[in-house]
Amino acid sequence: MEVIIVSTDAEVGHLAAEKIATLVARTPTAVIGLATGSSPEGIYRDLRARVEAGEISFAEARGFALDEYVGIPLNHRESYASVINREVVEPLGFNPSRVRVPDGRAEDLEFVAAKYDADIGAAGGVDIQILGIGTNGHIGFNEPTSSFASRTRIKTLAPRTRQDNQRFFNSLDEVPVHCITQGLGTILEARELLLVAQGEKKADAIAAAVEGPLTSFVPGSALQLHPHATVILDKAAASRLQLTDYYRHTYANKLNRIA
Ligand code: GLP
Repeated sequence: MEVIIVSTDAEVGHLAAEKIATLVARTPTAVIGLATGSSPEGIYRDLRARVEAGEISFAEARGFALDEYVGIPLNHRESYASVINREVVEPLGFNPSRVRVPDGRAEDLEFVAAKYDADIGAAGGVDIQILGIGTNGHIGFNEPTSSFASRTRIKTLAPRTRQDNQRFFNSLDEVPVHCITQGLGTILEARELLLVAQGEKKADAIAAAVEGPLTSFVPGSALQLHPHATVILDKAAASRLQLTDYYRHTYANKLNRIA
């Protein structure tokens, strides 16, 4: 795992965006794993500037969202289908027909989940998966004790996650109880993982995921199993790591800063 510590939230977004922009410039049909939430906002902002400057285009790229709430309407402002459309598809100029979000409104959610994994496979797999991390260590909506072998499936949100996400809704009661999320096994099949975290509130989850034991109690620790995982942090999110000197030394001595 490569751990990169930068000074500010904006730098996290810039550096992560650079990796994605490099991939898309080289492979315009790349398959991007898309995350929602606050963490990747800076990535999408930075990529938008590059699209507007004519440096890159997502017109031929494909996208698969990580997760979706179950039980809120498609056109709800906070459905991940709406968020992905508003924050990714429109600003970055993806072809909407090439971007998928799990359908959390379907009658047969188990069928939707199995088909979602199959569709990722049929697209050739995810080239780079963008990830945030929850304060309880979740990635996607894989809450603590999720199996490392799990596939896309229905989950019950942890009370802490519902509280964390309450800020997007009018009240805690409005936050959905269930979700559909790519499994940890699904996520680990992406060719590259790119996790970003900012702020002190993520420091414990990051320390546990990066330097703690491999445990389903901290789903983010699954990154330790992946051969090409990059974690980009601001100083606050990195503040409880033990090996920060080593990570800085390694990055300062890196020959190729993009790959
Ligand atoms: C959310 C999402 C995750 C996200 C995480 C952290 O609920 N399902 O994909 O990475 O929790 O959220 P945020 O980036 O808003 O802190």
